[in-house]
Amino acid sequence: LASTDVDLSHIAEGQAVTVMWRGKPVFVRHRTPQEIEQARSVEVSSLRDPEADAARVQKAPWLIVVGVCTHLGCVPLGQKPTDPRGDYGGWFCPCHGSEYDTSGRIRRGPAPLNLVVPEYAFTSDTQIRIG
Ligand code: FES
Repeated sequence: LASTDVDLSHIAEGQAVTVMWRGKPVFVRHRTPQEIEQARSVEVSSLRDPEADAARVQKAPWLIVVGVCTHLGCVPLGQKPTDPRGDYGGWFCPCHGSEYDTSGRIRRGPAPLNLVVPEYAFTSDTQIRIG
């Protein structure tokens, strides 16, 4: 499928879903106010791959990233509340220990780049189309 529609209405704050898009997992995460604040409060110039949170989201509560570690392509953990998320509250890659923050930005470990934000658009208040 070239594009994937995701209904956001059943994803509660603090929850996340994984959908497949062009053969890859895409993480859709409904961020809590604390997670948003955490993502915004980082000094951008201190980041390995400097990107402001505002440049990575269209609506603050919704973070959409390709779920493929930018090191060697493992799928990071952090989608389930019981998953390890690393010290920065986003995702933890079990392969070699990369840690991503609540904006999906690389914060520690061997991965060189942030998790990729795919092309997507809001088709309604509660629906997105990826791709
Ligand atoms: Fe994720 Fe190596 S593939 S840290």
